[in-house]
Parts: sequence; structure tokens; C-alpha cells
Amino acid sequence: MKAIRTGAQPSSLDTLEYVDIDEAPAPGPGEITVRLKASSLNFHDFAVVVGMIPAAKGRIPMSDGAGEVTAVGEGVTEYAVGDHVVSTFFPSWLDGAPPTTAFTGVPGDGIDGYAREAITAPTTWFTKAPKGYSAAQAATLTCAGLTAWRALFVDNSIKPGDIVLTQGSGGVSVFALQFAKMAGATVISTSSSGEKLDRLKDLGADHLINYKETEAWGAKALELTGGRGVDCVVEIGGPGTLDQSIIATRVGGHIALIGVLTGMAGNVSTAMLMGKNQRLQGLTVGSRAQQLDMIAAIEANGIAPVISDHFPLQDLAAAFAHQAANKHFGKICVDI
Ligand SMILES: NC(=O)c1ccc[n+]([C@@H]2O[C@H](COP(=O)([O-])OP(=O)(O)OC[C@H]3O[C@@H](n4cnc5c(N)ncnc54)[C@H](OP(=O)(O)O)[C@@H]3O)[C@@H](O)[C@H]2O)c1
Repeated sequence: MKAIRTGAQPSSLDTLEYVDIDEAPAPGPGEITVRLKASSLNFHDFAVVVGMIPAAKGRIPMSDGAGEVTAVGEGVTEYAVGDHVVSTFFPSWLDGAPPTTAFTGVPGDGIDGYAREAITAPTTWFTKAPKGYSAAQAATLTCAGLTAWRALFVDNSIKPGDIVLTQGSGGVSVFALQFAKMAGATVISTSSSGEKLDRLKDLGADHLINYKETEAWGAKALELTGGRGVDCVVEIGGPGTLDQSIIATRVGGHIALIGVLTGMAGNVSTAMLMGKNQRLQGLTVGSRAQQLDMIAAIEANGIAPVISDHFPLQDLAAAFAHQAANKHFGKICVDI
């Protein structure tokens, strides 16, 4: 079967290889074989394929995978042949507190991922996909969807009337907008592009700020809330955006520290954070149990992921170039 592997190190988009690999073996006890039909791109996958995150030579990238069960091993009762499934980000984090093993067990990073046609794996590496979802839609959930879900409903309890601020129009942020609107929250969305702001408005964003034109967007958000501040910021920028997020957030509010788009470290106004009694919480995706909760909410509320682009598996490098050029809105999917 076909797969993408990282080639010569350090990895780059130019060294990705479209190769033949062994077929997936028959499933053993407690395992399923999944014919993978889609994956989706995350910044994390980009970091692996361009060598920002060191990965082994020959690594099969992509943390997200969705497809159809084609065989079940002995003792498997949760799935039947034909079921539509989606992968989990941390295959061994089923429930409870986050693991301390960082990314060593994450598909597409510490172990081989889903840029391939099939896989045989323990049942717990997957959950059922939301009913009615295409494989591409399901593949958006593993990383981006669950991260947004956890920020709003696991590490916070966003409810009708709360105010949420989302940054930009990438995978995590568009899901955060959709989930926050699902919960009845007011949403302030930022973007670097007027055209993307229009699309965020179409998805329900109540207030829009162009963060390129309004550098003090934290003060603008504060003003939009009548000086109260937002209840939660879904912080995907990191050090370069955190001060504005602190300004935008209410006293006692929550900043979900998710992203590193502006860098891995930097100066942050810790005194302002302290003075506003805010909670700054790092998070890394979520558990399998949280994924099941998210899927139940998606099914109950008819949430449909926003996918701006599709690429075939063999064009994965082009898909990443598209992401790097910031041409996407929401998710980019790979059809396998
Ligand atoms: N901790 C976790 O568990 C976790 C999980 C998923 C992702 N992440 C991180 O979250 C970040 C976003 O990931 P993603 O997969 O959603 O990325 P993505 O789909 O590639 O989205 C990137 C978008 O972010 C926006 N952006 C870039 N720089 C910005 C800035 N300075 N201020 C505001 N918005 C900015 C841009 O939106 P516009 O074009 O609209 O400006 C861009 O399209 C990455 O750092 C990623 O590593 C972390």
C-alpha cells in the first residue's frame, strides 16, 4: 500500500517521499484494521515534516486519521466491519489526567501516523466517527476539534452568555468559534484578513477584529465587552499574542494556552496576569473520553467542520505549502 514518509534529514517538504509499504497485518486480539480514507493538516504535522520537531527518518506523518473498519480481531465488541472511525491524538490517554509522556506515543510524531492507506491498531486508538460525517470531516476532529473542545468545555465550562475570543481562522480557532456558538456564547474573532473575517461572521462570530490593522486588539476586545473583558481566550499565538489576550480577558477569566505560532518563548506581562487574577492553562489536545464527549455534542448539535481545501495523499507536500502560505480557512484535508 501507499504511504508518505519523511526522507533525508533534516526533514523538509522537498524530502517527503510517496512510497510503497507493507500491507496492514490481520488484526490480533483487541485490534481492528482500518482502511484510512482521510487525514487533516495541523500546525503540529507541519512542524514534523519541516523538521521543527525532530522526528525519525522514515516517519509516516499525520496525527489525524479517519476511515472504515475492514477487519476486527478476536474479542472486539466495540466495532464491526463497515464502522466509520476516527483516530485519537494520544492513543494511550484514554481518560483522566494528561499523560506525562509528551509526544512520544503520538502518531505522526513519536510513532508512525496516518499518511497511509491502512493501519491495524488496538481498538482504543480510534473512536466511532460522528454519524453522517465523511471521512474528511471526521479526520478534522483528532487534533483541532478536540483541542478547541477541551479549551471551552473541559478546562472551562463555557455557557450561554459567556464571551469567547478566538484568534485567526485556522483549524483550532474555527472549531472554537463553532463550539462557542453551539454553547450560546458571544464570540469575538480576530483574523489578518478582511475576507476571512467575513467568513468568520458567516459562521456566527459576533464581533470581528483585524489583528494586523488593530495591533492593540486586546483593548479593542475589552471595549467591545463594555470594559468587562472576555471569559475565555483560545490562545493560539503564544508569546507574541499573550499580552493582548491578558488585556482582553476579564478579571478571573481563563486563557487556554494552546499555540506557538509566534514562537516558543517570550516576555509576558506576568504582573498583569496576576493582577487580573486570571487563569493561564496550557493544554495538549485531549483524551479519548473527551473525544467521545465531543462527538456526542457534535451529533446532538449538527456541527459540520469547515474544510477549505482537499489534496490527494501523494500531494501532501503541496497541501502543507498551502497551509504555510496561510491560504486556508478552517481545515485542509487529505484524501487517501
Ligand atoms: N496545544 C495543543 O494541543 C494544540 C493543538 C492544536 C494546535 N495547536 C497549536 O495551535 C496553533 C494553531 O494550530 P492550527 O492547526 O489551528 O493552525 P492552522 O490551521 O495552520 O491556523 C493558523 C492560523 O492562525 C492564524 N494566526 C497566525 N498567526 C497569528 C497571530 N499572530 N495572531 C492571530 N492569529 C494568527 C492565522 O489566521 P488568519 O489567516 O485568519 O490570520 C492562520 O491561518 C499552532 O501553534 C498549533 O501548534 C496546539
